[in-house]
Order: sequence, then structure tokens, then C-alpha cells
Amino acid sequence: MQNAIALYNELKFATMSKELVLIIEDTASLALIYEECVRKLGYETKTAPTGAAGCAFLEKEDPLAVLLDLKLPDMKGLDILRTIRSNGKNYAVVVITGQASLNTAVEAMQAGADDFVAKPVDPERLQISLTNAIEKTRLKHIVKTFESTGRDHFQGFIGKAPEMQAAYRIIENASSSRAPVMIMGESGTGKEVAAKAIHTLSNRKHKNFIALNCAAIPHDLLESEIFGHVKGAFTGAIADRDGAARLADGGTLFLDELTEMPVTLQSKLLRFIQEGTFSPVGSGETLHADIRFICATNRNPFEAIQRGILREDLYYRLAVIPLELPPLRDRGEDVLLLATFFLEKATKQENKNFESFSPDARDLLLAHRWPGNVRELENIVRHAVIMNNGTEITAAMLPAMRQSNFLPAAERSIEFLPQNTVIRPMEVREREIIEEAIALCEGNITEAARQLCINPSTIHRKMKLWEKN
Ligand SMILES: Nc1ncnc2c1ncn2[C@@H]1O[C@H](COP(=O)(O)OP(=O)(O)OP(=O)(O)O)[C@@H](O)[C@H]1O
Ligand SMILES: [Mg+2]
Repeated sequence: MQNAIALYNELKFATMSKELVLIIEDTASLALIYEECVRKLGYETKTAPTGAAGCAFLEKEDPLAVLLDLKLPDMKGLDILRTIRSNGKNYAVVVITGQASLNTAVEAMQAGADDFVAKPVDPERLQISLTNAIEKTRLKHIVKTFESTGRDHFQGFIGKAPEMQAAYRIIENASSSRAPVMIMGESGTGKEVAAKAIHTLSNRKHKNFIALNCAAIPHDLLESEIFGHVKGAFTGAIADRDGAARLADGGTLFLDELTEMPVTLQSKLLRFIQEGTFSPVGSGETLHADIRFICATNRNPFEAIQRGILREDLYYRLAVIPLELPPLRDRGEDVLLLATFFLEKATKQENKNFESFSPDARDLLLAHRWPGNVRELENIVRHAVIMNNGTEITAAMLPAMRQSNFLPAAERSIEFLPQNTVIRPMEVREREIIEEAIALCEGNITEAARQLCINPSTIHRKMKLWEKN
């Protein structure tokens, strides 16, 4: 609460320092009356005698409020009002309407006016309208700012930890720009969720969001996946095929696990980013695409540069806006918020009756290190819901978690997995084995695949399928 008061005072002070009211009124005698009324309230005034002069002023400055006569010689006052609101300007606007034009007043309110005053203007009524409109605008601004400082969900994310608030703000600010974003964070921290959020909030949202996982696609096919190919470019290229670059034209291209991209291909990608042009494999043709790049990696990019698997120049091109998602273990009580969200989801999907976590289960959730982050949490909750019945999830229903939590990483291995006492479908067991292996490898899918003796692309393919279910 104290924070709320401090924020209120800070914002009140910030907004009060802009004390100018713009009066757009062509009749000089009326303008003088309005000026006097406004000055008596303690505000400065600026008068524009035409609509054009008013608009020119508003293009350069944001006043505290606008007093707008709807009947101007050169423009319609309603059009000025609509322009103000469609430009996202939220300062107070009070309109002045002709005596009998109730319809216009209603139209003005619908177009975003805060209040209206009918002619002949009663000075006292004008002052009350203006004061209320300014106060209402201040409160709206404060509520909006306060909400945006403490959101518990945002564009597919659940979480209200301060680190997540910072991430939400970066996502919001980044979305209005075309600058490339580099998302970093351990596996399962929500890098793809963040990439989609940036696209959805941007003005590219009506165009494609194309995601390519560089680790899931065999190296020799990756170039064609990105740039496309022409018929006969290589064995198996039986027809021309568009790549991600073309599909994402006008939209967003999300290159996941960037450090897994072969270095030779990284040079081609760099050229594409710099020049906006590319050639499909096997074609001499130069094509153009307008793309917003978002990349992600769960490795430390600087280590990857040092090891020679990530080109430094490419990194700096792509990391114009770096976004780091914190590991789940650093998000405090967000673990419980997320666990409750996943519990509701799984309970509904599985037709069960779970409502909450017991105190010992909550303690376990808060103490766990979450190597697989949010994905691991969702899987563990879902597993517990599938395997048990009742209304409360207890610590005893979370055996896999207790196991991996208390064993030092070096000692963990697949042999330590809990013994299964019931026979379950192969598909379910397969998912458990893969997820447990990923958790034991602290979220490193490539390592989990190596130990399971399967290809990482198999894991990625299956994970995509599970996410759909
Ligand atoms: N804060 C969050 N709130 C709700 N769901 C989340 C959150 N973060 C991640 N998830 C969910 O967790 C799963 C993993 O998220 P995502 O695929 O974005 O992670 P990632 O960082 O890209 O992982 P990886 O490095 O393994 O590709 C998804 O099902 C996603 O919807
Ligand atoms: Mg991902």
C-alpha cells in the first residue's frame, strides 16, 4: 500500500508539472473568456485561433488538457478530437458545443471527449468540467501505470515477480520497434512465449510468426528451411519450396537455439539481416524480405562466441534488444501461482477434482531447483493430476520431484527414477522417460538426447506434440 501511495504522489507531481491548457477557439472574445476561466484555476493557457494552428501545436507538445470548440472555420472539431485519440493521446479534452446540438455532444463523448459544455458557456460550469476531466485523466494514468507495475499475467505469461515485470516491460517496449531481440534463459523459462508476445503486440501481428528451431533441423537442411530451395537444388528437392524467410515476410522470424546453427550458415544469415536480401538454395535469384528477427538461446552467448560456435558479429546484430528470462527458482512465489494455474488446467483436461496443494506440497514446490523451469513444473503438476485422485495434491503425489531435488546433479541418473508399480501406456511412459531425462540433465535437451541415445530432433518433435495436447 505504501508503494501505491508513493507512486500516486510521484505521478501526481509528474503530471502536474505540465500545466498548460490549449484552447482551440476561433472567436477572439470567447477565447478571452475561456482563458480567464482557465487561468483562475491556476493553469497556463495557449490559444489556437484555427483548427490547423491547434493541430500544429499538438503535433509538437502534449498539453495537460484541450478546450476544443467543435465549430471551427477551417476544420471539424470532432475530427481533431478523433485524431488526438487515434494517436493514443490521453490528455483531457473538453469540447464546447452549440446550444442545441445534443447529438454532437453525444458523438464527441463517443469519440473520446471527457466532457462537454454547451454554449453560451457558463464560466463556473466550464471550470468544473475542466477540473473533473483533468482529475479523471490523472487517475486513469495512475491506475494504468500502477497496473503495469504489478501484473500477474501478461500475454501468455503467468508471474508477478519483479524480474518478470521487467521482462514484460522490455517485451512491450520492444514490440513497437523492428530491432532484433535476443532472448536468453534456461530451457523452459518461456523464451518462445516471449517471442510470440513481442509479435502479437507489434504492428506485424497480422502477418506470420514463423519459428525455426535450429537444433531440431538437421544441419544440411537448415539453409533450405530458412531460405527455401529450387527444384533440383539437392537430392530430394523435387519442387521449388519457400523457406521461413519468405513466409515471414512482413512478419516475425523466430530463430530458436541460434547457437546450434552451423557457423557457415550464420554468415549467410548475417548478410540477410544486413541487406534484407537472400537467395533460395540452388537459385541465383536475389529475393527481398522485410523481417523482424527474434532469436533465442539457452546457452550463454558469450561462452558460445568464445567456443567459436556463434559468430560475434551476428550476435551483436541480433542482440540489439537483449531479454533475459529468469530461472523459475529465482521467481519466488511465482512457483505457486504457476502451479495453481497448471493444476486448474490439468484438472479440467483430465476431468479430475483437484483444487489446491497441501502445505507440504507447497513447501516442496518452493524448495525445488526447477532445472527444467516452467515446463518441468507444468509436467510435474500434470503428472500428479493424471496419477492421483482427490481434491488436494500432497507431497507424496510428487515423487519425481523429491527424487531429483535431493540428489546432487553428478549422482543423478536414469537408474534413480522412481519405480513404477502399475503398467501404463507406452506413450505415457515414453513421455515420462524423456521428461525425466531432461530434468536430470538440468534442461539440456541435447544432453538428454545423447544419454537416451536418440536424436534431439525427436525430443523437439515430441515436445511440440505434447504442447498441443
Ligand atoms: N511464465 C509462464 N507462464 C505460463 N506458462 C509458461 C510460462 N513460461 C513458460 N510457460 C510454458 O512453459 C512451456 C515452455 O515454455 P517455452 O517453450 O516458451 O520455453 P523455452 O524457454 O522456449 O524453452 P526451450 O529452451 O526448452 O525451448 C510452454 O508450454 C509455455 O507455454
Ligand atoms: Mg523454446
